[in-house]
Amino acid sequence: MRSLYFITGNKGKFSEAKKKFSELNIDIVQKDFGYPEIQADSLKDVALYGVEYIQERFDKPFFLEDAGLFIDALNGFPGVYSAYIFYKISCSGILKLMDELGSNRRKACFRSVIAYKEPDREPDLFIGESYGVISKKPIGENGFGYDPIFIPEKGTKTFAQMETNEKNQFSHRGKSLNKLIDFFKNREIENFKNL
Ligand code: IMP
Repeated sequence: MRSLYFITGNKGKFSEAKKKFSELNIDIVQKDFGYPEIQADSLKDVALYGVEYIQERFDKPFFLEDAGLFIDALNGFPGVYSAYIFYKISCSGILKLMDELGSNRRKACFRSVIAYKEPDREPDLFIGESYGVISKKPIGENGFGYDPIFIPEKGTKTFAQMETNEKNQFSHRGKSLNKLIDFFKNREIENFKNL
């Protein structure tokens, strides 16, 4: 079986990718490089900076992913700052901010940008979005990050109430991973055989 490296320190992201890739003959291997996440205006720029950093240190095909939660009532906050804000105030801080705002607007969107890189090829980007609402309180034990406060459209549960397969059906990452998987399925890549 061929190996493909997912550069991430996040076990939750990794197990979601592992589940999705189980349908292909590709073994996803986690590699935690601890690459710097620059403060940029877009997830795409953060991901591309990560690619630049890793490609100088690692010569095998890999992908990495940058994600964020964009909340309408907070003008898209925490967005590209999602990791830092989660570290500082977590889900409860976000709910408090929304309470203080006193708005009934609960709409939000999770976005995921995957950047895939192999030697001698420009990076390929795959984008996934999941629209939904922010719950009134945290619910559920599964997943990670903001999962307990996000209910996807057409869903009745938060991501944290779902098993990985179910979250993958609704999630931003499930969608960007689908595109990455289609890319591998549709592409005739001789050099991929040597992974
Ligand atoms: P990053 O992509 O690792 O920079 O993640 C940004 C922030 O959003 C982190 O705090 C993550 O925990 C959070 N996050 C990213 N993806 C998800 C998700 O699928 N569910 C919940 N939180 C997420």
